[in-house]
Amino acid sequence: MDHFIYQNGQLHAEDVALRDIAASVGTPFYCYSTATLTRHYQLLTDALDPLPHLVCFAVKANSNVAVLKVLGDLGAGMDVVSGGEYMRARAAGVPGERIVFSGVGKTLDEMRLALGGGIRQFNIESEPEMEALSFVASEMGIEAPIALRVNPDVDARTHEKIATGRKEDKFGLPIAQARDIYARAATLPGLRIVGVDMHTGSQLTDLAPFEAAYTKLADLTRALRADGHSIDRLDLGGGLGIPYTRSNETPPLPSDYGAMVQRVLGDLGCEIEIEPGRLICGNAGVMVSQVIWRKTGGAREFLILDAAMNDLLRPAMYDAHHDIVPVTESAPGEPQALVDIVGPVCESGDTFARQRAMPLLQSGDLVAFRSAGAYGAVMASEYNSRPLIPEVLVRGDQFAVIRARPGYDEMLARDTIPTWMQTQEA
Ligand code: LLP
Repeated sequence: MDHFIYQNGQLHAEDVALRDIAASVGTPFYCYSTATLTRHYQLLTDALDPLPHLVCFAVKANSNVAVLKVLGDLGAGMDVVSGGEYMRARAAGVPGERIVFSGVGKTLDEMRLALGGGIRQFNIESEPEMEALSFVASEMGIEAPIALRVNPDVDARTHEKIATGRKEDKFGLPIAQARDIYARAATLPGLRIVGVDMHTGSQLTDLAPFEAAYTKLADLTRALRADGHSIDRLDLGGGLGIPYTRSNETPPLPSDYGAMVQRVLGDLGCEIEIEPGRLICGNAGVMVSQVIWRKTGGAREFLILDAAMNDLLRPAMYDAHHDIVPVTESAPGEPQALVDIVGPVCESGDTFARQRAMPLLQSGDLVAFRSAGAYGAVMASEYNSRPLIPEVLVRGDQFAVIRARPGYDEMLARDTIPTWMQTQEA
């Protein structure tokens, strides 16, 4: 459930009409709902309630500091994968003890940053990384809490570009070698083993791959304890899928996920960590865009929008489906046409939807892309020199710009002409 519904014929974010936000900030823009973010966080944390746990929001899905603050203020931890994400989590007021540092290629500088600022745990993905962290922590005279990310070798049957849990993927350490690597970790200075980490994949719409992976994790935990390691935390990663269409998708309910976690891992007495991104913020955001032109007369009819692949990359990159709805509700029985919905970027890949049934929209009409709160703004670029689009947060009947649209001046000011090309004053 989200809080983007029609009221009096206008699509609202909570109690604010998207049309009013568009009039104030211009289009395109992203808009997030505080109530939806809160609800999704709460559902997940409640689902795990019988177990000691921490929900660490995957910052990669939406890293706006205001969004992080909504979640951080509710008690969420954060899962970060770069120094930049770590800084964002801290800027949102999240203490280091609630931040886990994941990612396959942490640099020594990023390790120093997190160790210096405080960190709950590093999820280690390779032996060289483990040695480097041991070196950095020893140099700083502190102990780095670590979990090793093991690759469960489970095929989650998700999109090829977001598959992570198969042995041929670049992530984690082979589960078969985990005991040897833990033994090695225990001998290295500056490291303190706190648990085991795993991530199965993203946009999983079935609990079976999670259960297969967590069953392997339970066996590994018992074996590691028998080897003498203290395993107090299990980080289960993220990956719970969301419905991208209103009709035919039924991803698992958080409560069913929580019950499964308890059944498979509950008797181990570990603190459970999860790293959900999409489930918390995906359906808490929309992207609003305006029709520039309706182009007819050729083989196809096109709706050309002022948003493009640089603003929302998912359709171009993963052939992802986003529901696209008119901001002014269409009347029952209103005529529709099959249109290709495209952006202005000079690539055929800049296509959001093909042959989509839409009302007969005209220049100036607004549309909203649903389910755009995760992996939307964070994956945007300025390709074709299109400035990043603004982000807006709604709470009840209030809205605020949480990232402003840069002007052309700001965009140009980042480039510098080398001195050798600058004209000398006479
Ligand atoms: N933890 C780790 C270690 C991850 O790699 C990811 C996502 C997550 C947590 C959060 O997964 P989530 O709960 O959001 O599924 N850009 C793609 C998704 C890439 C996911 C990468 N890793 C998309 O737009 O679908």
